[in-house]
Amino acid sequence: MKDFDVNSQSDSFTYLDKDGTFESGDKGVTGTVHQNNVPSPLSGLPEFSHLGWGHWFTLRDLETATNKFSKDNVIGEGGYGIVYRGKLINGTEVAVKKLLNNLGQAEKEFQVEVEAIGHVRHKNLVRLLGYCIEGTHRLLVYECVNNGNLEQWLHGAMQHHGYLTWEARMKILLGTAKALAYLHEAIEPKVVHRDIKSSNILIDDDFNAKISDFGLAKLLGAGKSHITTRVMGTFGYVAPEYANSGLLNEKSDVYSFGVVLLEAITGRDPVDYGRPAPEVNLVDWLKMMVGSKRAEEVVDPTIETRPSTAALKRALLTTLRCLDPDSDKRPTMSQVVRMLESEEYPIPREGRRRRKNQAGAEETESHNRKSNTDSSDRPILMTKARSDHRTNA
Ligand SMILES: Nc1ncnc2c1ncn2[C@@H]1O[C@H](COP(=O)(O)OP(=O)(O)OP(=O)(O)O)[C@@H](O)[C@H]1O
Ligand SMILES: [Mg+2]
Repeated sequence: MKDFDVNSQSDSFTYLDKDGTFESGDKGVTGTVHQNNVPSPLSGLPEFSHLGWGHWFTLRDLETATNKFSKDNVIGEGGYGIVYRGKLINGTEVAVKKLLNNLGQAEKEFQVEVEAIGHVRHKNLVRLLGYCIEGTHRLLVYECVNNGNLEQWLHGAMQHHGYLTWEARMKILLGTAKALAYLHEAIEPKVVHRDIKSSNILIDDDFNAKISDFGLAKLLGAGKSHITTRVMGTFGYVAPEYANSGLLNEKSDVYSFGVVLLEAITGRDPVDYGRPAPEVNLVDWLKMMVGSKRAEEVVDPTIETRPSTAALKRALLTTLRCLDPDSDKRPTMSQVVRMLESEEYPIPREGRRRRKNQAGAEETESHNRKSNTDSSDRPILMTKARSDHRTNA
């Protein structure tokens, strides 16, 4: 089973850099081992499982790493399987996703897809370190991102750590936008995530966003299993054309991104049956509020220092453009990046082109330098936990 040619698909992802918009720190995305000052999370592991881009783990490796998939190691469970905290024998902390039993999954296809996605690197994407295929078992091994996910910070378990400031929210959404722009516009073939939602945006200690599960929908889509239904995305985030007709392209991700952006601005769930009827659907509520000139009222009341009117308008304008019912009219993700970064409001047309060359470039992952760690970020990114303002906590 391990004899497939690891290099045979190494051209499956071509690195595109037409105009310098995107710059991967791992230019040798096609099978080269990256050179960097930071030790590889895979260093010290037995060579026999080394694939050039990552590791093929045995089930036993991962049993050891997760204390036999102990309940105590469970981080959480989603639509695709259970995620465990683990530690590799070289000390690297990982998250191991044990996929639901998917007997119908074409083995070769799974390998090829995993390898393709394993090559994709960006500072704002969770890194896939390796995988395990054994019998009917399919597991994916990711870098561990330790500071919760956006859903938990906005509505759940991380709230007792404090509330995210406006700046933190915009930093997280901008990072997310950059990673999506990379998946959609910088690699070939492009990757459509299909399940963009706040729980799939993980957060690191410096409040950088890391998108997880990219490529997972594609990986699992080939099989004829109950997981396939999962590929349809998550209620509340799915673009209307995708929900209605199954038509899918990267503009569906743009719509879902718009929902997450709105979630971050308002602190509300995309669909919340605990609210009065006109407020149950977040997107409809926003349109109603904007239509009746009450846009200023939609900001999450837990944000202590409110954004300036210009910043709020910019964020809401970007949201509305992403949520356009006509998918052709939605912006591309690199346009979204520029809209979110723009200092002026309304966003000047001329400035758009000029910024194109900058967008994404400085944020793409560099293996030659540390992430832009700035511990002074922390105080401005969080405010102390205080009484809950949500009506239906
Ligand atoms: N690489 C990772 N590092 C740390 N925690 C992770 C990692 N990947 C996932 N998690 C956490 O594990 C839990 C389960 O994630 P999972 O992706 O299975 O579910 P989900 O995101 O809620 O839904 P979906 O199945 O649609 O992705 C979540 O709390 C998530 O934040
Ligand atoms: Mg997930």
